[in-house]
Amino acid sequence: MPSGNATNIQKLSKSQAKAELRKLIKQIAEHDERYYQRDAPIVSDSDYDVLRGRLEAIEKRFPDLVTPDSPSQKVGAPALEKFGKVRHRFPMLSLNNAFSNEEVEDFVGRVRRFLKLPADATLEITAEPKIDGLSISLRYENGELVEAATRGDGYEGENVIANVKTIGDVPKRLTGRNLPKAIDIRGEIYMRPEDFLKLNAAQERTGSKIFANPRSAAAGSVRQLDASITAARPLRFFAYTWGEANPLPGKTQWEVCQAFKRWGLPVNELMIVGTSPEQLLKHYRKLEQERAKLGYDIDGVVYKVNRIDYQERLGFISRAPRWGLAHKFTAEKAMTILEGIEIQVGRTGAMTPVARLKPVTVGGVVVANATLHNEDEVARKDIRIGDTVILQRAGDVIPQILGFVPEKRPAGTKPYKFPERCPACGSHAVREINPNTNKLDAVRRCTGGLICPAQRVERLRHFVSRLAFDIEGMGEKIIQEFFDEGWLESPPDIFTLESQDRKAAHRLAEREGWGEVSARNLFAAINARRTVPLDRFIFALGIRHVGETTARTLARAYGTVETFVQHMNAAARSRDNDEFRRLTDIDGIGEVVGNSVAEFFAEKHNTKVVKELLDHVRVTPLERINSTSPVAGKTVVFTGALERMTREEAKSMAERLGAKVSGSVSKNTDIVVAGPGAGSKLKEAQKHGVEVIDEDEWFRRIQQS
Ligand code: IVH
Repeated sequence: MPSGNATNIQKLSKSQAKAELRKLIKQIAEHDERYYQRDAPIVSDSDYDVLRGRLEAIEKRFPDLVTPDSPSQKVGAPALEKFGKVRHRFPMLSLNNAFSNEEVEDFVGRVRRFLKLPADATLEITAEPKIDGLSISLRYENGELVEAATRGDGYEGENVIANVKTIGDVPKRLTGRNLPKAIDIRGEIYMRPEDFLKLNAAQERTGSKIFANPRSAAAGSVRQLDASITAARPLRFFAYTWGEANPLPGKTQWEVCQAFKRWGLPVNELMIVGTSPEQLLKHYRKLEQERAKLGYDIDGVVYKVNRIDYQERLGFISRAPRWGLAHKFTAEKAMTILEGIEIQVGRTGAMTPVARLKPVTVGGVVVANATLHNEDEVARKDIRIGDTVILQRAGDVIPQILGFVPEKRPAGTKPYKFPERCPACGSHAVREINPNTNKLDAVRRCTGGLICPAQRVERLRHFVSRLAFDIEGMGEKIIQEFFDEGWLESPPDIFTLESQDRKAAHRLAEREGWGEVSARNLFAAINARRTVPLDRFIFALGIRHVGETTARTLARAYGTVETFVQHMNAAARSRDNDEFRRLTDIDGIGEVVGNSVAEFFAEKHNTKVVKELLDHVRVTPLERINSTSPVAGKTVVFTGALERMTREEAKSMAERLGAKVSGSVSKNTDIVVAGPGAGSKLKEAQKHGVEVIDEDEWFRRIQQS
């Protein structure tokens, strides 16, 4: 926890306690300021409660260390300057928090003892949802709304009457007869999570402030200087208590709330009157269960002694009444409904199931989606659409679905069936055998590679990359830009960019940030690659498991592009034909690569792309290995910083010359090419007596060939 020091309070020395209290006061003040004045909290309520709980526990052990600036001595933060100030006639205080059943039992016991009630006397206590919004005090004089004040520091708040008048739930005039001369109605302004999400989406569209959660959004909306902005925000209100009341319309909490209802004020329907801790706790559990379905956020249950004469006798200690208690829900977990499962296709074709949830606040953040990781995870948890699921959010981690609640499973649900086709392009989606573990891969992948819209940008990026077509100046940004314009969808489009440009379909030179020269340079770079060696061509296709080395193996095995394409088309027809066997018989090509290549060529759209590409580029057979080179047949290791070439260039150059490039030095190594900073490999070379040369010497030798 942010307090940084979680030493057992009983073990704290007085000076340690003093130092920690100072730190806690500072931290809490900062969080209060963010929460109350900037509507931008950075810790969850439960983290904040931990800080306050620790401060109060330390103060309880060392009462003489309590200072006037301690948060235990005040509520909230001072009123903002921008609004007029309102002095509360009755302070707007807070409630003590409880987190366990025992604390609730203690509360009831404490009240009974304070009132000196005989063991058989009935004590009524109400239990109602604790609404997660911002508290407000509404003053009605002769039924007319005349003032609306935020809590501020509990004694003085901000006058937000103009804004509050725009909230539909707040009557500007109370209805009914015998209205009090004056009454301060207190309650909570809040926002529904679904309205909050819509608001945030709209804010995002206009580049305006994004709110962390519905409560911050409600608070931020009430504190608008321009009431027309507040009017456009979906704010709501529940009334639950009062300040000054002249007269009070009842003798109990319950009766007063019934009067509020008659006057046209919204009162929460989920209040009960209990007579034992068991009844209160039962209601607490019920509300915790129903929390997700309510449509508004609650963060606990508030218990209040029902009889108002008892409340008056009980009074307050420091900032909270003896007659009330807030029983908070345990942090970071919530239940909600799984409304659907959507499949997201990643840039590499991985299909991830994402839970679409009825929005719920978990740990101060509204959660509407959660990852379900993969197909097996959904099957293992047997989560079905319509289920009530348990959601957990830990810190900043993406929310997780822990499981479903069996008793709440609706009749007729079916196990979720994972799609076998890609939702983005309709191609087959397959699960491969992981070559390392020999087990079925957890991830199902789309095989649509070159045509799948979800994978297109990534594929294009790969296609032009240095080890593939190596088109200079065609970076990720340009690809994305052209893709967004609709100019580039699949690799063959790269080679028609210039002719399209000439037809004035899209004039590159006229674009912002471009010009004649840069357009010409790009077209020149593309044209320079209209001839490409077969290994690069194969690698550029982006077939799964076909890296640079495998591409070269395939290129060597099939020689020309025509032979390669013809044989792959045949191999794709069935896994039980000679062509497929010939493919997997190639040294270095196993079942995994074979399947992957066959799947690629089994998709019509992929073969179409290959065919179109061949209309624009000339594919040369792989350069023959130079067996006369002085490095042919040698095992070479490159180590240290190379200055004249990249590691990849060095590798492909050596391989072209017939050398085998290895990553580690052994007695079988023939040459180590060492640049500056070479370390352990150099030592190994010396140990085995392997020849060590520098980069210049390497170039000298290979130039002879
Ligand atoms: S009664 C003396 N009832 O919780 C304060 N408060 O932690 C009496 N709250 O400041 C408050 N729902 O903003 C009460 N049903 C409810 C509530 C509720 C939410 C808030 C309120 C209060 C805070 C106390």
